[in-house]
Amino acid sequence: MTSSPAGSAATGSAATDSARLAVRGESRTFTLAQGQSILEAAMAQGLALDHACGGVCACSTCHVKVHRGGECLSTASEDELDQLDEARDVGLESRLGCQARLLRRPADGVVEIAVPTWNVNAVREGH
Ligand code: FES
Repeated sequence: MTSSPAGSAATGSAATDSARLAVRGESRTFTLAQGQSILEAAMAQGLALDHACGGVCACSTCHVKVHRGGECLSTASEDELDQLDEARDVGLESRLGCQARLLRRPADGVVEIAVPTWNVNAVREGH
């Protein structure tokens, strides 16, 4: 047996499974790990994304538009679609950030999202 530092899963070799999370209007880029939701990635990396219900699909404040890589995210559930019906400015690319999880790395390695302007304003006004 070899001794390996396998005590914790905190470090990882998930880089090849991760996607680069590009956010329109943001100069920083973020990482979206396999299995991670967009909201989880945002919270872990300091990207402001509102989440009034705490990420349990009970509001629509985490609404984002996925412009690239959406085919590699989990499929929207009926509950998510119901919540999106309540959101403003919904389009075909709309998802709830707390529900959309990365299933696999896109071919070009990028998931690109936009946070609707009205949502950014709500966040900046101190929520
Ligand atoms: S945080 Fe409420 S639905 Fe995503």
